[in-house]
Amino acid sequence: MSEQALLETPGRLVDVGFGVSAVTTAELAAAFPSHQVVGLEQDASRVAAAAHEAPHLGLRAGGLEVLDGEALVVRVANVARGLSKEDAEALHGDVVPRLVEGGVCLEGSTDVDGHVSAFWVLRRRGAALVREALVLHTDGERGFSPWLFRDVLPRDLRRDVRPGTPTHALLSDWATAWEASRSASPRESFRASVIALAERRADVDSRFVAHGFCAWRP
Ligand SMILES: C[S@@+](CC[C@H](N)C(=O)[O-])C[C@H]1O[C@@H](n2cnc3c(N)ncnc32)[C@H](O)[C@@H]1O
Repeated sequence: MSEQALLETPGRLVDVGFGVSAVTTAELAAAFPSHQVVGLEQDASRVAAAAHEAPHLGLRAGGLEVLDGEALVVRVANVARGLSKEDAEALHGDVVPRLVEGGVCLEGSTDVDGHVSAFWVLRRRGAALVREALVLHTDGERGFSPWLFRDVLPRDLRRDVRPGTPTHALLSDWATAWEASRSASPRESFRASVIALAERRADVDSRFVAHGFCAWRP
């Protein structure tokens, strides 16, 4: 799951719902200076304030409907978790026609300061968004336990951490691996536990563990 080829293509990256300031859009623009980066926000007063602070950013009032043309990547961070299941599904549906074929939507949530996050990787295939993986990330600043991710799961998984569900099974297996390998360093505990988990479970991908990422393909 490398997006190198996608991100080497000239095109647009979209940050949906940038919030009170456009800091996430600004970070995206700084990380990808060769791409056109657009920040969308449905609260027009937030757009006006952010545009005043950062006039160089491409900020627009509204949701995906105001986009003309298609994007390589659409990021929807901390937006869908507060929606009803139906509204979150509708949001996913709205993303499809705004992505290029093969383009990716990253939809998920983080803790307040962005130290712990969980994102769906959703790829456009024709008229559908295909779930490729749930990517779980931490930088270790909040310590580490697999159960940290329970609080940042995307909208459709957030009530899914009950015994008998695939999400609960994943976190339980991960906790077992972590208990056996934990050390004083949260980053090392994360790394060692993801590697041990991937040895037990074919649906866990540890390729990007050195960067603090674990990918799960349920
Ligand atoms: C909690 S903030 C998230 C801010 C930022 N994305 C982050 O991760 O820190 C959610 C923002 O999304 C906006 N929002 C919600 N639904 C939206 C939609 N469909 N299109 C554009 N903005 C939306 C809200 O107005 C709010 O400002």
